[in-house]
Amino acid sequence: EKADIGVTGLAVMGRNLARNFARRGHTVAVHNRTPQRTRDLVDQFGAEGAFVPAESPEEFVAALQRPRRLVVMVKAGDPTDAVIDEFAALLEPGDIIMDGGNAHFDDTRRREAALRERGVHFVGSGISGGEEGALHGPSIMPGGSAESYRTLGPLLESISAHVDGEPCCTHVGTDGAGHFVKMVHNGIEYADMQLIAEAYDLLRRAGGLRPEQAAEVFARWNSGRLDSYLIGITADILAHADASGKPFVDVVLDQAEQKGTGRWTVHTALDLGVPVPGIAEAVFARSLSGHADLREAAQGLAGPTVGAGEVAGLAEDVEQALYASKIVSYAQGWNMIAAGAAQYGWDIDLAAMASIWRGGCIIRAAFLDRIRAAFRANPALPTLLVDPEFAAELDAAQDAWRRVVATAARLGVPAPGFSAALAYYDSLRAQRLPAALVQAQRDLFGAHTYRRTDRDGVFHTRWDTDRHEESAD
Ligand code: 6PG
Repeated sequence: EKADIGVTGLAVMGRNLARNFARRGHTVAVHNRTPQRTRDLVDQFGAEGAFVPAESPEEFVAALQRPRRLVVMVKAGDPTDAVIDEFAALLEPGDIIMDGGNAHFDDTRRREAALRERGVHFVGSGISGGEEGALHGPSIMPGGSAESYRTLGPLLESISAHVDGEPCCTHVGTDGAGHFVKMVHNGIEYADMQLIAEAYDLLRRAGGLRPEQAAEVFARWNSGRLDSYLIGITADILAHADASGKPFVDVVLDQAEQKGTGRWTVHTALDLGVPVPGIAEAVFARSLSGHADLREAAQGLAGPTVGAGEVAGLAEDVEQALYASKIVSYAQGWNMIAAGAAQYGWDIDLAAMASIWRGGCIIRAAFLDRIRAAFRANPALPTLLVDPEFAAELDAAQDAWRRVVATAARLGVPAPGFSAALAYYDSLRAQRLPAALVQAQRDLFGAHTYRRTDRDGVFHTRWDTDRHEESAD
């Protein structure tokens, strides 16, 4: 019997995806560069379903029914190119190669174009949910041609997470669209994690809570509107004690690492001209935490003279600040998806992105139902912030949000995510921004011109002479 699908690259993500396909009743060809991994998989999990082990690329390709569906699960970057080159030579027109790694969408666009010339479909697909997700149901974000989705989509949907009976998998858009939205997903993931970390820090340093008490607060929040995977694991982590008896969170070195997807999000946002300060602050906060040298040098700098002490009603306020800031970072993420779609010609359904992130992925949250509803009600929503329901919630939260940012500043507890989110909110709703002054400065020192509020045209003031205004059209 020929296999329905093949997976090459059997490290933990590849292995778990292959098992997931097999457990769903698909016959899966499995291949790994070092064949021992393939044998181990079949030895350990062969009873879970129908596996067809292949020792060589030729054998692997020959095991697949046509059009062939081949999933590559290797390290992003050069290893992915090497594997694609190796297999592309063995494939025929109409076959499909899916890359399920965290590839940069530019690489995916390049690979898709190159393979398209040979008639092979290349599907760059975001997969979120870590090891557990890969095995039990991830959120899957495939790009590539609509035609490839007709062949590959049903298999992917069958192994994805499901929420209310709907698969957390949809055709995102052509070529690199899937990897693009996975990148934005990770940017939002960074922002969520940073906001949660700030909330914890405030509960502890401004609210005087011990980690296990903060865990209870997070557990409570997790049964309300903040209900989400990341809030849930935060409660678990904060409740966990190390073997030494100390709170686990106190024995972990406070330097957060990153493999690059958050940084790509910010890079790309800068290129697209989309403001994503919430995501950027989260990336920079990780970067700052890793600068042991700078932090060491700054240890002697003075902090505020006021002491911490208990702040009344802090936990309730922090919940409001966290929720409002979260709305802001999701709004920024969705703006970025819309901008990417416009730039690259992808027809991305913004409501569907919320739909496929409701389950399986790291940012899964009850809240995504609301985002979906907002874009369904108005697909052309310029920003989530102006959806009537979110706008009302932001209004209800804003006093608490402002108190939290003020408390953080007063006590010297850094809250870059909360502050950046609030500044974004206040900037967008401002009737006039001091950008007018910036533009005037540009005109003065560089004759960069300006437009006026009261009539059309482009102008320059002769700052160097008698300051009369000239038309610069
Ligand atoms: C997911 C995660 C996954 C991984 C990130 C973490 O959606 O399942 O985002 O892709 O955890 O690569 O990225 P950092 O190592 O940069 O934190």
